[in-house]
Amino acid sequence: MAPSFLYLPLLVMVALATTASSSYLSPYYYNKVCPNALPTIKRIVEAAVQKERRMGASLLRMHFHDCFVNGCDGSILLDDTVTIDGEKNAGPNNNSMRGFEVVDKIKYEVDKACGKPVVSCADILAVAARDSVVALGGPAWKVQLGRRDSTTASRTDANNDIPSPFMDLPALIKTFDKQGMDTGDLVALSGGHAIGFAQCRLFKSRIYNDDNIDPNFARARQATCPRNGGDTNLAPLDPTAAVFDTAYFKNLVKRKGLLHSDQALYNGGTTDELVKTYSLNAGAFSADFAKSMIKMGNIKPLTGRKGQIRVNCRKVN
Ligand code: HEM
Ligand SMILES: *[C@@H]1O[C@H](CO)[C@@H](O)[C@H](O)[C@H]1NC(C)=O
Repeated sequence: MAPSFLYLPLLVMVALATTASSSYLSPYYYNKVCPNALPTIKRIVEAAVQKERRMGASLLRMHFHDCFVNGCDGSILLDDTVTIDGEKNAGPNNNSMRGFEVVDKIKYEVDKACGKPVVSCADILAVAARDSVVALGGPAWKVQLGRRDSTTASRTDANNDIPSPFMDLPALIKTFDKQGMDTGDLVALSGGHAIGFAQCRLFKSRIYNDDNIDPNFARARQATCPRNGGDTNLAPLDPTAAVFDTAYFKNLVKRKGLLHSDQALYNGGTTDELVKTYSLNAGAFSADFAKSMIKMGNIKPLTGRKGQIRVNCRKVN
């Protein structure tokens, strides 16, 4: 029998191959093929956020809604065709998802900077989400890259897999579990609601019917969200909707969550402790948010020969 040290290199190779097969993504994916790709995305995102702070929130949300529907594959960007019943018209996105024009602009500028279409639309969403959070004062992280774009989209899957604002904690945990995301990821990533806005129709039942709500807060929200009508009126998801901070969690502890699903994270259940921790410890929230964003970005990417690099993010090549 050969001495056991001879097997060591083989074992190391097997170990590397095993980790690599779970994901071919790397933060350095575009370093050689297009070193200008990431600076270009950052430039357009910063300009868009400077023009309208909310756009940073919209771009963060778009990456989330992309990843939760059959992986981070740019499927949310596909327009409807005779063969594609797309995700844009799914309940959680229709008349709600915004930022598609900014993504078009990024794609145009990135392809120009690279001289050819080498950067996927799925990667653009992942980088734009990070750059948006940074532009609004939140944490930075190294975005894993090398995703390819889908040739399909699914309105049905978007309707089934994107969590609803009317869910309680067990249902929220279930939608995250389906993606391989745990309860800690749910709480950390819900901190995405540190920025941006929601429409009256999505929190109306909470401010009129829920009893786990601060009465003064409910009254204040009712002023711009009447029982009848006003369905598209906006309210901030937390009091500092243009800054990525921990006010979202501080508010949950005060029973001032805007969405029913927000307050579900602090309602006497298993996630109360973590909400409290984040409300008091911005460093812990930042670190966990960054970690969970990377994990979300790793949901079922298309790599190797799967999928394609779209020329136009709205259409299959
Ligand atoms: C946990 C389950 C979640 C539910 C039920 C949920 C639900 C919602 C709803 C109903 C809105 C308002 C949409 C509208 O009024 O048109 C919203 C907005 C938003 N969501 Fe979530 N969300 C969840 C998780 C997340 C996650 C994980 C992120 C990102 C990490 C995120 C980021 C955002 C952002 C940034 C906005 C504001 C968008 C804007 O102002 O354009 N959400 N969410
Ligand atoms: C999306 O919203 C529009 C109104 O803006 C509506 O006409 C259309 O039926 C909605 N689509 C779906 C699939 O519900």
